[in-house]
Formats: sequence, structure tokens, C-alpha cells
Amino acid sequence: MKAKIRYDRYFEIGRVNRRMGGSFVEHLNRCVYGGIYEENHPLSDSEGFREDVKELVKNFKVTLLRYPGGNFVSSYHWKDGIGPRKNRPVRYDLAWGCRETNQVGTDEFARYVRELDAELMMSVNLGTGTPKEAAELVEYCNIEKNTYYSDLRRKNGSEFPYNVKLWCVGNEMDGSWQTGQMDPFAYARAYRETAKMMRRVDPKIELAACGSCSNEPLHESFGKWDRVVLEEAYEWIDYLSLHRYYGFDVVQDLVYPRKETMDDGAWMVHDLDSMIVTIGSLLQYVKGLLRSDHEVYISFDELGILPKKARHSSGIVYDSFTEYDAVLFGGLLCVLLNHADLVKVCCQALLTNENGMFTVFPKGHTIVQPIAFPFKNFADCIGGTVLAQVGEWPQIETDHYGLASCASAACIYFEERKEIRILAANFSAEDSLELEISFGGFTKVSLMEWQELFTENPLEGNSEKCPQKVSPVLRKMGKEKKIVLRPHSWNALTYSVSELWEERT
Ligand code: AHR
Repeated sequence: MKAKIRYDRYFEIGRVNRRMGGSFVEHLNRCVYGGIYEENHPLSDSEGFREDVKELVKNFKVTLLRYPGGNFVSSYHWKDGIGPRKNRPVRYDLAWGCRETNQVGTDEFARYVRELDAELMMSVNLGTGTPKEAAELVEYCNIEKNTYYSDLRRKNGSEFPYNVKLWCVGNEMDGSWQTGQMDPFAYARAYRETAKMMRRVDPKIELAACGSCSNEPLHESFGKWDRVVLEEAYEWIDYLSLHRYYGFDVVQDLVYPRKETMDDGAWMVHDLDSMIVTIGSLLQYVKGLLRSDHEVYISFDELGILPKKARHSSGIVYDSFTEYDAVLFGGLLCVLLNHADLVKVCCQALLTNENGMFTVFPKGHTIVQPIAFPFKNFADCIGGTVLAQVGEWPQIETDHYGLASCASAACIYFEERKEIRILAANFSAEDSLELEISFGGFTKVSLMEWQELFTENPLEGNSEKCPQKVSPVLRKMGKEKKIVLRPHSWNALTYSVSELWEERT
């Protein structure tokens, strides 16, 4: 297969926001307890957070963490998770049907995020919580002193406010599985009242409203929910929150049955693009309808792949990703980059264990899952400018959706570093893709580095015995510098720019 692709220095899509390098930490299975946190573990710090996991989070450039849910937040009352740990109640968690010990709560997590030099995206409970409770959490986090909740935070060990800027108002409130599911009018009303009270405490906060939870065909509120919520609460919304999980394993359906196989990977990228285009059009439509000057952006705060299960020697069954999962995930991330004008927040879902980039075992051993590598390449693009792409990809046959583009790519220009990065996934299981790339607006562009994620068998993963089986390698480049993307491969190409067009003319 062959493709001719052109990028131009002057055809900018948008800057890659720092909030794009996000991940998601939910009180769900072993994501918090046994993931980022393990009390009395030799590798844990004085708060109980695993140092080895912190290292991974830093090394893989995670810049933002969304917390504490997810579905969990819809029955979570944040006051249960503050104060002396021994006094915190053990509650029954209505989202996941298990016990919540509340040993990790707002203070521990806010301090954790600060230590990681990341940003906290906090979600508030609109399922069983009240607007007042949400406003009190803003007071607890963001007011310096001399109010009941700010003084309580100081008493609980944090003299300085956390200054949480970004808030999710509820989670997936149109989902039948959500504790306290609402119709869009009820949600918009609750959203407005909550936003009003939260902003009275801190007018500078930015708020994300729940968009519909998925664009899967059986999720009937897709689009309709978003339109009503936007029409009813537009001026109060800064971001519309979107979620999507893709998977190849029919056994791994989350809510709706799925039929997709590995040969549908190319379609998934097209599907994500169409989801964003649809929501982007709605944002424009409502803005026009209301004659508003206000802009609402997309916060893609849950994007995930559904993994397979594997068993560790300790007996723990864990989520394990393959090389092909990583190629697909990289392709999906390119879609978000190519909408950098609209998508300003992104969270890979989730950080540890559950669909996690990092698998954490009780004895101190961790596995970096293959999907973490495209994530890092993506997070490395923060601060760059995404350039538009002109050219056609060859089409390949998918299992259920006819023809789809064989590749997904994004081009990011770093003006200060005089560097261009191209990220590219080839989804074809059998065919290589020869790329002829040309650049407009630059005169001298030379390929400096080519990182490739590829294993002969796309179903290969990283395991206890072979923890680095699927990891990127540097490709040697021939004299001809031809770019041939191997079948089912993920690639990160770095070019140096030694001359801009205007410097020459
Ligand atoms: O990631 C697990 C769950 O998936 C989240 O709690 C929810 O928001 C989504 O449906």
C-alpha cells in the first residue's frame, strides 16, 4: 500500500493543550487500592502511595488526573473521605457493589497530584449528591481560610488551597447504569444550579457537563441528550464531557453487546472521528441558535480500550493489552490531535490495573502495558501545534463496516524546538504502508528519529516473564529514507527543521 501525505506549516489545526496528557483514577477494583495506593507496602510513601507507580506516572508524562469517578462519584459523598483515617466510614458503593473504606479521599489525592506536578480534574456527585455538597467541596479545595470547610482542610493537614480549576459536574448521567440517572432537562437544571453554587464559591473554575456517554448505536440518547443539555445550560458550560471504550472481544462488552473484531480497528478510528464531528457540529449549532459568544470545548475524559485477562503467578487476574491494542489506541489518539481546536482535555481510562496503562502487583512488581507507549508519544506533543493533513489513505476491508482508511496519523510542529513529530498507526494486519510525506512552509526537513512499536504477532503483550516484549525500538533508517510502516505498527517520527520557508525568501 502507498500513500502521499502533505502537511503545511501554515495550515494549523490548534495547539496541543497541557490538559491532553490526562488519565483517570476511579475507586474501581484495584485502580486506587492495590494500584496507586497500598498501605504499609515497602515501596509506599508516608501517605501510602506506591513510589514505583509515581515514577511511572511521571516518566510517561501524565499531566492531569481525573478523580474519583466515573460511576463511583454518583454515590460518593466526599465528606466520608476526609479527616483522621480511622474515623472514616466504610460505605457500600452503589456503583460497583462493593465496600469503600474511604482511606483515600480528597486530601490524599490532591496532595498526590500536586506531588506529581499534574493537574487535578475533580468530579462531583450529581447522582445522590446535592449542589450544596458540590459547592462545599469547592470551598474545601479552593478557599484559603476563615470559612468552615477551608478551615477544616487546614485542620486536615493542608494549609494551602488545592486550587482545583477543572470540575466534572456529574458522570454519564444519561446512562441507565448510573446511580441517579436523569433525563436531559432534569440534568441541565441540576447542572445549572450546581454550577451556580460552585461558581459563587470560586468564579474562576471551569466546568464540564456530561455529554451522552457513548455513540454506540444502542445508546439512543447520543446527540439528543447533548443538544438539550447544551440548549438549556450553554452559558454555564465550558466543556462537554465525552467517553468511549473500544474493544475487539465480544465477551468484554461493557453495557451494550459488541461484534467488533481486530479487523474492525480501522473503522474504530473513523467512528471516533465521526463522534467528535457530530458533537462539534452540535456545539456550533447551539452557539448559533443562542447567538452566543461563548465557546464550549470537548473534554474527552474517558478514552479506553477493553483489554483481555491474564493471570499473574500470585494468582491475580489482571487486564492485559496487546501490541494491536496499542496500535489502535495510538490511532485513536491521533484523531483527538486532529481535533485539537475542539478537544482540550483528554484522559486515558484508567491509570492502573482496571483497563490500566500500568499493572501493579502487591509484591512491588509492575508491568507497563503496550498502550502506555503511544500515550507517552501523544503526551510528548503537548505545547506543539497540530498541522492539517492532506492526502488519501488506502482503504482496507473491515470485518463489519466495509472499507476504512488503513492508517491514522497526526503531525505536530514545535516551533521553538524547530521539530516536527509525526505519529502514525498502520492498521492493516498484512500490508506495509509506504509513505511519501511532503511538507509545505519548511525548506529543510530531515528525519532524525523513528520509534516503532511492532511485534511479529500483534496479539503479543507484556507479561511477568517478558515485561518488555512490546516496547518501542529505534528503527535504523536506510539511505533512501523511505518511510515504510510495517503492518499493525505504531510509529513516532521526529524531523528537525533547519529552515523555514520565510527565512529563505
Ligand atoms: O471506566 C469505568 C466506567 O466506565 C466509568 O466509571 C464510567 O464513567 C464508564 O462507564
